Amino acid sequence: MKYDFNETILRKGYNSRKWDDVKELFGDDEILPMWIADMDFKVCPQIVEAITNRASHGVFGYATRSDSYYSALITWLEKRHSWKVKKDWITFSPGVLPALKLIIETYTKPGDKIICQPPVYPPIFETITESGRVLVENPLIYDEHKREYYMDIEDFSSKIDSSVKLFILCNPHNPIGKVWDKEDLIKIGEKCLANNVVVVSDEIHCDLVLPGFKHIPFATLSDKLANNSITCLSPSKTFNLAGLQTANVIIPNKELREKYINTLNSYYLAKTNTFGIVALEAAYKYGEEWLNELILYLKDNLEYLKNFINHNIPQIKVVEPESTYLVWLDCRELGLDEKQLETFMLKKVKIAMDEGYIFGVEGKGFERINIACSRRTLEMALNRLNNAVKNLTKTGVPN
Ligand SMILES: Cc1ncc(COP(=O)(O)O)c(C=O)c1O
Repeated sequence: MKYDFNETILRKGYNSRKWDDVKELFGDDEILPMWIADMDFKVCPQIVEAITNRASHGVFGYATRSDSYYSALITWLEKRHSWKVKKDWITFSPGVLPALKLIIETYTKPGDKIICQPPVYPPIFETITESGRVLVENPLIYDEHKREYYMDIEDFSSKIDSSVKLFILCNPHNPIGKVWDKEDLIKIGEKCLANNVVVVSDEIHCDLVLPGFKHIPFATLSDKLANNSITCLSPSKTFNLAGLQTANVIIPNKELREKYINTLNSYYLAKTNTFGIVALEAAYKYGEEWLNELILYLKDNLEYLKNFINHNIPQIKVVEPESTYLVWLDCRELGLDEKQLETFMLKKVKIAMDEGYIFGVEGKGFERINIACSRRTLEMALNRLNNAVKNLTKTGVPN
């Protein structure tokens, strides 16, 4: 390996939400943060170099996205995902979540229905309800024996009608790490098209697909489905750049695109962060080798976690992800309700994961662990978990 993902990097003291806010969020500095979706790894050196070069220029006025920014993104999407994107289709957002908010505001009004598929990344349903729109849920089906999730296409079809305005798809899906297959995407896409429901595809995790799986951008399914789609993308998960506030919103349909741009401009949000621009460009131009190695390291971390848990803590079942560095753990056999489970993880295990229930009621009894950390950190977390579970019968249910 050319890049050393084993290096343990001290992140405390660098304004890190994950590391510096542990005490404030969880009440105890000893807690190991394994929750928020950013990585403990250094980015690829070409990104640091590009940012350093830009910083040494010393002038930081308003920035613009140059042709080379767009061409880096277009080339990346074609190479990694066989998606031919035209420059005109590309618009901007400071992040995927701001984009979701802007999209909801642009294409719907209070009282309109928006559909999504829990268990899912909580802000997806929060952006809907907090905007005064009506949340329609199409829960994923969990096959406990196979430990796999599926889309419930029948339920989806029964809930789609002309009162639904948007479908927010999460592809690959957070928290379960599923890479949706073409057939399912086509079925739900066709259903949406027939009912004038615009598909918003959150593809922020699209580059972090594990070996053996292939991400299918929703907009590559057909021209007519692309024309009814809005795709949100960012290098922030792939290249660990979440602090640089740079995302892209790809809208092939001119009419839809113009509406989005109007909303974006109305909030004066179209300007990009100077460092976000150079980081995106360097990442997509020079980051491929680093990313390929990162994916192998994440796969090894996943294997390590699976073996450790299967061998030592068989009460916890690992739902194996096909993508992302987030792993969904079925902890229901521990016999704790969701609040007891949360207290147990924080007070006894002393690791902070994302509680399953925040992803929707379907997530009760589950935990989402972030394994984008050095093996040492992962080992420490799993040892803490093992010891606490072994003691659970002795210490009893936490309050
Ligand atoms: C599916 C999904 N969408 C959006 C986001 C957040 O994106 P941003 O930081 O660009 O707003 C995350 C972060 O974890 C995510 O997992």
